[in-house]
Amino acid sequence: AGGLRDYAAAAGVHIGTALSEGRLGETAYANTAANEFNAITAENSMKWESLEPTRGSYQWAGGDRVVQFAQDNGAIVRGHTLVWHSQTPPWLTPGAFSNAELRTIVQNHVQTVAGRYAGDVYAWDVVNEPFNEDGTRRNSIFQQQLGDGYIADALRWARAADPNAALYINDYNIEGINAKSNAMYNLARDLLAQGVPLDGIGMQAHLIAGQVPSDFQANIQRFVDLGLDVAITELDIRMQLPATADKLQAQAADYTRVMNACLNVDGCIGVTVWGVTDKYSWVPDVFSGYGAALPIDENYAFKPAYYAVQRTL
Ligand code: XIL
Repeated sequence: AGGLRDYAAAAGVHIGTALSEGRLGETAYANTAANEFNAITAENSMKWESLEPTRGSYQWAGGDRVVQFAQDNGAIVRGHTLVWHSQTPPWLTPGAFSNAELRTIVQNHVQTVAGRYAGDVYAWDVVNEPFNEDGTRRNSIFQQQLGDGYIADALRWARAADPNAALYINDYNIEGINAKSNAMYNLARDLLAQGVPLDGIGMQAHLIAGQVPSDFQANIQRFVDLGLDVAITELDIRMQLPATADKLQAQAADYTRVMNACLNVDGCIGVTVWGVTDKYSWVPDVFSGYGAALPIDENYAFKPAYYAVQRTL
């Protein structure tokens, strides 16, 4: 029987996972990642803190390992992420550099990383999580010191370094129509009007069971109507633990809703779930009392959500 990736290929979308290359020594992990998914995102190893922990000394081994795994298994790579306020290196702190210096540092980082992986990466999350919930700009080091224009700059630098990668802005809580997704919509529209190279919007979709926005599809559609691609980039649907049969069934229905929101829109090009297995999901570490958020459980068994995803494809 085929994996999800075979169904996805037939449906004309990709089905991806976040991958931690440090887990690849676990046979079940590597086999499941290879069999089920045809798109790979480095869970951590292409983030700035991983790539350049000491200023000027890039550490490529982790990211390269992820690319190699994807290539060995015929999967595309989503690059994640070039400019993000979180998981930055310890030397990159507000005020440590002048605004002009910081701009050069960000430019060099984007050029170095996008250049290194040019040809290997299908798309880049060039900017990650630029907005607050109310639609104002997040007060990151980049926003503080470089101002609103850092997003357009980063997109232009990425395009120059890798002309073939699709360039995305990625964020969470932009799945429904709300203040944050409206801000993303207005930004995307304005960037396109200015000729800034923007190809897609990534909707992370770290969701809670029972709370899939009813206007998810309509929201995807309005971005596609701007001429952009949309990808669901970090899907998980968490529940309060312990998981029960009823909760797992309800979660499966939620996975169906998310998949259909994407599959019903031509420009929604794929869905990535944020992890291979509940065993290593980030959810329990960050959302206390919650877990069981992925389609495959901590023993690599397929959950109702897995079969729900399969049936949509
Ligand atoms: C998470 C990883 O899954 C964790 O291993 C890490 O400790 C923190 O980051 N939004 C993103 C992802 O864009 O990069 C985050 O990944 C989850 C939230």
